[in-house]
Amino acid sequence: MTASRLLPLPAELSVIVPCYNEVANVAPMVAALDSALEGRKWEVIFVDDSSPDGTAAEVSRIARLDPRVRVLCRVGRRGLSSAVIEGILSSSAPWVAVMDGDLQHDESVLCTMLAELQSGADIVVASRHVAGGDSAGLAGHWRHMLSDAGIRAAQAIMPHPLSDPMSGFFAMRRDLFDTLLPRLSGTGFKILLDLVMSAPRTVRIVEVPFVFRPRLAGESKLDIVVLIQFATMLLDKLTRGWLPTRFMAFALVGLIGVAVNVAVLNLAGACGLGFSWAQLAGTAVAILTNFMLNNRFTYHDRRLKGVKLWRGLVIFIAVCSLGAIANIGIARMMLDSAGHGHWDRSSAAGAVVGVVWNYAVSSTLVWR
Ligand code: GDD
Ligand code: MN
Repeated sequence: MTASRLLPLPAELSVIVPCYNEVANVAPMVAALDSALEGRKWEVIFVDDSSPDGTAAEVSRIARLDPRVRVLCRVGRRGLSSAVIEGILSSSAPWVAVMDGDLQHDESVLCTMLAELQSGADIVVASRHVAGGDSAGLAGHWRHMLSDAGIRAAQAIMPHPLSDPMSGFFAMRRDLFDTLLPRLSGTGFKILLDLVMSAPRTVRIVEVPFVFRPRLAGESKLDIVVLIQFATMLLDKLTRGWLPTRFMAFALVGLIGVAVNVAVLNLAGACGLGFSWAQLAGTAVAILTNFMLNNRFTYHDRRLKGVKLWRGLVIFIAVCSLGAIANIGIARMMLDSAGHGHWDRSSAAGAVVGVVWNYAVSSTLVWR
């Protein structure tokens, strides 16, 4: 690569590549882009979340030889969607493309995608499910089933008919991205779905086929957390952002906590404990479970570890205790002095106030 071949920037296309533990894939990826985008003004921005395998250092090494390569390092955070968002924000090109950093997305389609954008498309989706596309690289039978189920769920609520709404390979106008940004939920893996569901009906979306390749190096990061985030994002879109995703996850965890509480209460009762002690045991176990679940799922991106975990737990217990007092107080207020009135209604009102309190204070004091 001679300097004259590399220049001139500025780029017309920024390729955003989220990556986590992809050290072995960086150099082949840059080489693949170099040949696929021959004759185009492009740059690639790798967005790395402090991968322990040294992905960022590898990108920097290549960037010192090639000015079209950049690395955006994020510290203390994880997340595919938010990595993509910040990568796009760091670009000044009129068009951006997003693709995985594990060589599963076929870079030879990029030129077609750019050409579609330049002839007026707002968003171009590389699809595995239009004629000529294929998802051969999906590892295993269950990944295929999961992928199909996800696609159907998404299609059911999407205003735009997309054959592959779960694709992580797409390109779009940068200025359109800016207008959609305030509406993005930014959690989980499915940034394209998030964007398309936030877009007005008038956007011009074009699909181009591509073949999803098998992963050669490293491993997939899709896990149960990602699936839960996907479900909550769909809910978020269905409620049009009225209920924040995080609140719904928090409330869901709260419901699990109620079940745990009742289960432990009964178990302790069966072991001969009186009601008050059994209820105390149930509440303690429920608070602990809720804390761990919230730390793992609801606040996955702000997960507490080590000393901070213990500090957080102490504050969480304090917050929940105050929440319980508020809960009982509100419920009592709705009954008369003799305790007559609608028990169910009063209790539900108390519980709602309790959950909102716990949520509001936990997200400011515990998971800051
Ligand atoms: N910065 C950052 N942070 N990057 C991440 C993170 C993260 O927390 N998690 C995953 N990535 C990167 C990976 O390094 C990879 O480059 C890309 O995001 C996709 O992650 P994979 O773990 O390889 O995903 P996959 O192969 O299971 O899923 C693919 O298929 C889906 C459709 O079935 C991806 O292409 C998805 O985007 C696609 O929707
Ligand atoms: Mn992959």
